[in-house]
Amino acid sequence: MSTVLVTGGNGYIGSHTVISLFENGYDVVVVDNLSNSKMEVQNRLEKITGKRFKFYDIDCCDADKLRVVFEENKIDSVIHFAGLKAVGESVSIPLDYYSNNIGSMIAVCRLMTEFGVNNLVFSSSATVYGSSEDVPFTEESPLGTCTNPYGWTKWMIEQILRDYAKSEPSKRICLLRYFNPVGAHESGLIGEDPRGIPNNLFPYISKVAGGTLECLTVFGDDYNTPDGTCLRDYIHVVDLAEGHVKAIKFLEKTEDSVSVFNLGTGKGTSVIEAVKAFEKACGHEIKHVFGPRRPGDIAVCYASTKKAEEVLGFKARYGIDEMCSSCWKWQTMNPEGLKD
Ligand code: NAD
Ligand code: UFG
Repeated sequence: MSTVLVTGGNGYIGSHTVISLFENGYDVVVVDNLSNSKMEVQNRLEKITGKRFKFYDIDCCDADKLRVVFEENKIDSVIHFAGLKAVGESVSIPLDYYSNNIGSMIAVCRLMTEFGVNNLVFSSSATVYGSSEDVPFTEESPLGTCTNPYGWTKWMIEQILRDYAKSEPSKRICLLRYFNPVGAHESGLIGEDPRGIPNNLFPYISKVAGGTLECLTVFGDDYNTPDGTCLRDYIHVVDLAEGHVKAIKFLEKTEDSVSVFNLGTGKGTSVIEAVKAFEKACGHEIKHVFGPRRPGDIAVCYASTKKAEEVLGFKARYGIDEMCSSCWKWQTMNPEGLKD
């Protein structure tokens, strides 16, 4: 049985990916420092899969501590989710973002070299396309000037990994550029569990729908889009998780040292369409008002899915209705999120 080390595997996307890996016959070892997730996630994963996964509470920047994981387990592939991801926060504490995101990636790479582990999947983001609106973004679209330190960490890590792969021809690296992951596992036991007031659209809508927050502010209604609100490529987190399994399988057979794939649906959904879809899922109105544009937002962002479809065999199965209904189930079953 092939073993995948999932760093950040206690987080939102990582935890869903652990399930997909398990369902596809992989053994999984999780490393997470719990900086943005709660230990209860591991109990929930056990409820869903019937298996208790090996878990290490370790900061991936600490290569000495992380070495123990490589010593104690025969790792075949790594998926590196561990990282800080709040765009606004990255502007206030950029050094923390650069040192955590880049430092953890470098520590993981050094250990992959030391232990002869060749396959790596990295969580990149559509944010590397910068503020271009030349949609759909293909993997060949020029990388843009990022608008915040978080985006730059992804951009820089992609470059670091290209250089790393050049220096070690045995390495097989997959850069996955996610669009907007939303939704939750069908069980309602795991989902997105942000601390404090959410910055992102779906967690915010969920809390308004659930009554914890009063009203959604729609940031801007004067964009050059059909209803004036921004279009994003929302992708169900369970589809995204499946994409990681496809990426691992691809790395097991490819000769290419670095491969890049967009993971999205190829479809743009406006903020207002998302609100309407959520209203259908929860069965009541979601109070919203229109406010000014949010600095840094682009009008449209969606993926070309052609390469992922043709090369990885990946195609998202779920649409906006399933994203909203799963989000709503998670919200109603866990109105306060998970316990610490
Ligand atoms: P998340 O915060 O839910 O998960 C990340 C996990 O990594 C958390 O459990 C956190 O505790 C852990 N972590 C952070 N730094 C660590 C470190 N140094 N050592 C060990 N663990 C550490 O975030 P997510 O939404 O699941 O995102 C996973 C990855 O995907 C991140 O790298 C993120 O930047 C990237 N990504 C996310 C989105 C999105 O919209 N959610 C979009 C594009 C890319
Ligand atoms: N929005 C609102 N009101 C809110 C929150 C969001 O109207 O309260 C709007 C935003 O203006 C945007 C859309 O909803 O038009 C989606 O916003 P999100 O914050 O959910 O997502 P973004 O597209 O801004 O950002 C996401 C990830 C980033 C990543 C980026 C590009 O959160 O990490 O996609 O991939 F960098």
